[in-house]
Amino acid sequence: MNPFLDRPLENSILSGDLKVLGGSYIPDTLPHREEQIQKLVYRLESIMRNINPSNLLIYGRTGSGKTSTVAHVTSMLSEALPGKISVKILNCQVYDSIYSIMVTLVNSLSTDEDQSIPLSGWTLDRIYTELIRRMESREIYLLIVLDEIDKLVQKNGSDPIYVLLKLADDLKRKNSSLIGITNYIGFVEGLDARVQSRLSQETIMFPPYNAVELRDIIKYRVNGVVKNDAIEDSAISLCAAIAAQEHGDARKALDLMRMSIEIAIREGMEKITEKEVARAKDMLEINVLRETIKGLPVHSKFVLLSSVLSQEISRRPSFTGEVYDNYCAICGELGYSPLTSRRVGDILSDLDDSGLIVTKIANLGRHGRTRYVEVGEKHEEMKKYILEEDQFSGFHGQKIGRQTRFDSDWPDKDRKGPSADDISSATMDPESIG
Ligand SMILES: Nc1ncnc2c1ncn2[C@@H]1O[C@H](COP(=O)(O)OP(=O)(O)OP(=O)(O)O)[C@@H](O)[C@H]1O
Ligand SMILES: [Mg+2]
Repeated sequence: MNPFLDRPLENSILSGDLKVLGGSYIPDTLPHREEQIQKLVYRLESIMRNINPSNLLIYGRTGSGKTSTVAHVTSMLSEALPGKISVKILNCQVYDSIYSIMVTLVNSLSTDEDQSIPLSGWTLDRIYTELIRRMESREIYLLIVLDEIDKLVQKNGSDPIYVLLKLADDLKRKNSSLIGITNYIGFVEGLDARVQSRLSQETIMFPPYNAVELRDIIKYRVNGVVKNDAIEDSAISLCAAIAAQEHGDARKALDLMRMSIEIAIREGMEKITEKEVARAKDMLEINVLRETIKGLPVHSKFVLLSSVLSQEISRRPSFTGEVYDNYCAICGELGYSPLTSRRVGDILSDLDDSGLIVTKIANLGRHGRTRYVEVGEKHEEMKKYILEEDQFSGFHGQKIGRQTRFDSDWPDKDRKGPSADDISSATMDPESIG
């Protein structure tokens, strides 16, 4: 029996395409972003009058509609200036070097006579000169949008931004400007002073959506996708409330709703209720964690497993020394050579960055400072997902031990972890491992 043919294709819920709720779809209207749209239009309309706008920085937490709003406004601008503007929206997770950005910009300005620049082989100087040449030979405004600009700066420092700002200076008509989008405004502080002031000449803030706004957004987005009355009002409210708690993330609200609709369709239901939303919430959370763990390199899985087991055994956050000892035990049991404690320190920092663990520095008085590792309440699920992975088949953990030698060092005798005073800093300190 073919399970795909066994599924009913008809459903009594959808009236349109569910893809419309997905992340890559840019809606025509963005409720509750009227103010930000207006500000953007106000800043960019000078391009229509041949006056160059200042560079802009757009800031707001994840899912606050930054990318969609900028895409929406710039597409209206392109529509208003056909052939006179080239808007390039580049996500810096993908375009993470000045080289890849410049190649893309030059190639986006190709005419029939221009050759396409290869992805490697040309020097940056040559690409830059070619970009200037192409810009000068055409009456066109170049609006460069660097989405997730903090990622570019994190990887390369100020230099790429400096080059793009310089581009505007080097063009005779100064017909280029920059919009940076970020959910981490702190990156600005790390920028070279000259770059900093020029990049953030103007900032537009995107505040998080509240539950009432998220309700409107969901209602607007499901309109035409789902039949009237197929979604109970309380289900929409629950999606909005959950997403409002997660810093007003519209993506989360829409994902929850989409997943709830999928559950209802799969199970042949006629209505989407709070129950489907609750199930969708569980599925989304679990899936994210599982996928994150699946994607980890093998030694990171070992270190994560060691962090979980060390904490479970001693019922308190673990010292990095304990995590390292148990990591070596795991490697031994599975037939892998352990990495050095320094490398494991780096892995712990990476795991902290991806939100799987928290590492902090504890001040142990006369014993000095040490780093400790805390695994959140999802440790059971983490363990389950790690052990599901192929590398762990046959793993029993016989060599994992409680490292009693560390207990005498632990400052807080009731095993709850160090007190606030003990934690002198939450910054990473790879030196303290070992
Ligand atoms: N006001 C709105 N109306 C309708 N849909 C919205 C609105 N705001 C955001 N969305 C939708 O929510 C999702 C997330 O929005 P978007 O990608 O623009 O957020 P972001 O601020 O760029 O987030 P991140 O910082 O994570 O990149 C998208 O699917 C978008 O279409
Ligand atoms: Mg975005």
